[in-house]
Amino acid sequence: MPVLNDISSIRSLLASRRSASAKAMGAPGPTPAQLSEILAAAVRVPDHGKLTPWRFILFEGEARRRFGDSLRRRWRELHPEHGEDSLIAMHGLLLRTPTVVAVISTAREHPKIPLWEQQLSAGAVCQTMLIAATAVGLACQWMTDWMAYDPGMARVMGLAPHEKVAGFIYLGTSTVPLEDRPRPDPQSLLTRWGPP
Ligand SMILES: Cc1cc2nc3c(=O)[nH]c(=O)nc-3n(C[C@H](O)[C@H](O)[C@H](O)COP(=O)(O)O)c2cc1C
Repeated sequence: MPVLNDISSIRSLLASRRSASAKAMGAPGPTPAQLSEILAAAVRVPDHGKLTPWRFILFEGEARRRFGDSLRRRWRELHPEHGEDSLIAMHGLLLRTPTVVAVISTAREHPKIPLWEQQLSAGAVCQTMLIAATAVGLACQWMTDWMAYDPGMARVMGLAPHEKVAGFIYLGTSTVPLEDRPRPDPQSLLTRWGPP
């Protein structure tokens, strides 16, 4: 099996990229310079109409715990039947890695550029962040979880009504060796178009 996350060349990285699991990540997270580099790569994604239909929210340090307080409160409101273990798990969601960046899609109806294309651009931001983070030697994972879809947590994050979470990008260092997962055979997904 080839080495995972082989950063010796761009092609080897693309051929071997693998997410880590936020559940098995710890410090160190990105340095300020690494985080700037990751964000600088992210904003180079294709963006039809040059609308910049995304923004970032950074969770680091104590802010992750404060956000966890809100996660816990909201989870109890939504699921009063769940016990203390579940509340502790929710409180700790962002504490799993030193740095978490929420990528927010700010897509709006536009006379020329479909909403879908603006949202796809936010997805490209997330994937580019994974590639850039891996390239600087970090472990990373793109997650949403319930908090990405909950209106209560959207208020806590200060999202406007039209904004959506494209993903939480967890950044840190894996505490376990990564194992690959089965990948689809690209040839089996490929059809050659011919006239109907
Ligand atoms: C939009 C999006 C949301 C995701 N949300 C979660 C999530 O909430 N929890 C999770 O375990 N994996 C989630 N994943 C999957 C992981 O990011 C990742 O794909 C998975 O760990 C497999 O790793 P790989 O990138 O090496 O294939 C999500 C993926 C995408 C594209």
